[in-house]
Amino acid sequence: MELPSKVKIREVAPRDGFQSLKVFLPTEKKLQIIEAMAHANVKEIETTSFVSPKAIPQLKDAGDLMTKVPRHSIAHAALVPNLRGAKDAIAANIDHLVVVISATEAHNQENVRRSINESIADLDAIFMLAQGNDTPVIGSVSVSFGCPYQGDVPEKDVFKVVDAYTSRGATSIILADTTGMATPNRVEQMVMQFQDRFPGINPILHFHNNRGTAMANLLAAIKVGATTFDTALGGIGGCPYVPQAAGNLPTEDVVFMLEDMGIKTGVNLESIIKAAQLLEKILGYTLPGQVMKSGPRDPKLAAKICNV
Ligand code: COA
Ligand code: ZN
Repeated sequence: MELPSKVKIREVAPRDGFQSLKVFLPTEKKLQIIEAMAHANVKEIETTSFVSPKAIPQLKDAGDLMTKVPRHSIAHAALVPNLRGAKDAIAANIDHLVVVISATEAHNQENVRRSINESIADLDAIFMLAQGNDTPVIGSVSVSFGCPYQGDVPEKDVFKVVDAYTSRGATSIILADTTGMATPNRVEQMVMQFQDRFPGINPILHFHNNRGTAMANLLAAIKVGATTFDTALGGIGGCPYVPQAAGNLPTEDVVFMLEDMGIKTGVNLESIIKAAQLLEKILGYTLPGQVMKSGPRDPKLAAKICNV
């Protein structure tokens, strides 16, 4: 097994995490967290969504937030469910557009209230708009590894959506385990088939931890050549249209493990732990992340940062 010398981390807590909070986190608090991420040398953030405020009230400040975020050295992505969202995101000067379509009809209906074909029908206009503005488009496929309504998801259904994105010029594809139903074998199969079918496009893997398999899935994906991952500070996150939604892989846990394995993430462990602790303080409850509690390997540093 040959491990890569580095991987890329996309921090998704501000979008995937904040969308699932029970309360609206004020814009200033969101900014504090994003600034702490920037301080830890995070380079790509999924910062917000341009979606209906009735569907996701927690992100209703998307436009305002985008006028205030630090721009230097960070690329900001925003999730959009339709053309209206793409127009708003581009008007807000977003760096990457993330379009979302589910691999199953049931989840697409719950999430964006239309059929997969209706979502695909919006893509021509979205891509034309984005390409006219030189904004790269990332295509995200929800429930790629299992659906809370349908169960198993055939790979051909995942690849139908991937095709719709790549044939229009998507620069990257997110394969999202929205429900935490993936296991290492399924991940290996999916990544290898993806590589066969879409050579030259490196998938971004997005794992939720509903069943405790997310870190094992990440390692399985790395072993077959995946090098880009979505992670969320403190392990927050979850789709509002998944029963028992659970968080993403905690960024600081991934940074800890990979750096110790000699795989560079570019993220500073001490600073990202502090960012996770700040997030926990702001939210006021214990977060799922583990390394933010136990600290780095160096006992002195662990004592200093984590009081252990
Ligand atoms: N941003 C802001 N408002 C939007 C919007 C967008 N991208 N798209 C539609 N709207 C508004 C419409 O203007 C309309 O407003 P009004 O009630 O004041 O007239 C309202 O939302 C309903 O519009 P409609 O086209 O009928 O949408 P809908 O009710 O069928 O909902 C979505 C469709 C896609 C807008 C909505 O389901 C959504 O935003 N989903 C996001 C899901 C999500 O983020 N999931 C988690 C991430 S995977
Ligand atoms: Zn997610």
